[in-house]
Amino acid sequence: GMDIGSKGVVRVVVTGAAGQIGYSLVPLIAGGKMLGPGVKVELRLVEIPPAMGALEGVKMELEDCAFPLLDKVVCTSDAAEAFVDVDICILVGAFPRKAGMERKDLLAKNAAIFKAQGEALNSVASPNVKVVVVGNPANTNALILSTFAPNVPKSNITALTRLDHNRLKAMVALKLDKNVTYVDGAVIWGNHSATQFPDVLNCKVDGISDPIREAVGGEAYLRDELIPKIQKRGAAIIAARGLSSAMSAANAICDHMNDWLHGTGDKYVSMAVFADGSYGISEGIVYSMPVRTMKGGSYEIVQGLTVDAFSQEYMKATEAELRAEREDALSIL
Ligand code: NAD
Ligand code: LMR
Repeated sequence: GMDIGSKGVVRVVVTGAAGQIGYSLVPLIAGGKMLGPGVKVELRLVEIPPAMGALEGVKMELEDCAFPLLDKVVCTSDAAEAFVDVDICILVGAFPRKAGMERKDLLAKNAAIFKAQGEALNSVASPNVKVVVVGNPANTNALILSTFAPNVPKSNITALTRLDHNRLKAMVALKLDKNVTYVDGAVIWGNHSATQFPDVLNCKVDGISDPIREAVGGEAYLRDELIPKIQKRGAAIIAARGLSSAMSAANAICDHMNDWLHGTGDKYVSMAVFADGSYGISEGIVYSMPVRTMKGGSYEIVQGLTVDAFSQEYMKATEAELRAEREDALSIL
């Protein structure tokens, strides 16, 4: 793994860097929020040719921030150039869903992007590169990327469900009138989509002795309110802002990478990783799991959490969606 701080400068790629999330994300990275205090960073910003002008503007603004930790900013439309010896790769750039597009259409557009980026990663990247896919459909894009990047260990390729995790944690805290720091053990299972299973069965909240499932209102509340609210939170933000979440997505990307690099200690977080049979989810898909990370950059799927019949129903539904996405992706490719 990578020992952050032991080398001079950490190289970080952000694709789609002139987009909404990119604009929120790059100042967090250059400001030290992702890698930690004192770690210098080289930012490699990737965009498609029509967005290179806007990207130059982002670069100008980054310079104007005078970030002490920002060593260098490189802008390119060539992913293969950006991926050479990269340490961290944040894949945000994706083809957006347009009115009337079916899931399969979106998948086809993005399969082509993530196939090309997988091939580029495979030919030039270090096998130690740590990748998080953000662009949707994130889990299946990560699967496609990995298919075309066999030189990169599967464990180094993840997709972002930390935003969903943070949403769940915050909603439990709000419901129980506690600060978020008191809420521990939330899990997002499965796909970053409306089938995801936001699970509080293993949650603990300081000062609350009842099981959290009961404390928040029992199964009916979960089924009718909490679960659909988290599943549809992304859509609610699009409806409210006219744009998808960007500030909270950028924040979640930093949380995901910071924990991956520095370790969660005895706590765990949610990350979409390659399924390995844990919790009855067999291989072949990228599925959000409870993950404990170790300082230095390794991680493991947390074993032994309680899963009951209520959980199983939701976990199987989101698994089925991911297997269907996989089938669609394979048929397209
Ligand atoms: P955006 O449209 O504002 O920005 C995307 C940028 O990616 C654009 O500037 C575009 O030019 C660029 N791009 C497109 N194809 C590219 C390619 N092949 N290489 C490099 N750049 C490319 O979108 P956004 O709001 O920043 O969201 C980006 C993606 O993240 C979307 O797919 C969105 O659905 C997804 N998202 C995921 C999560 C999550 O939690 N996983 C949360 C929010 C948004
Ligand atoms: C989110 O969770 O906010 C986004 O993934 C929603 C979207 O469709 O872009």
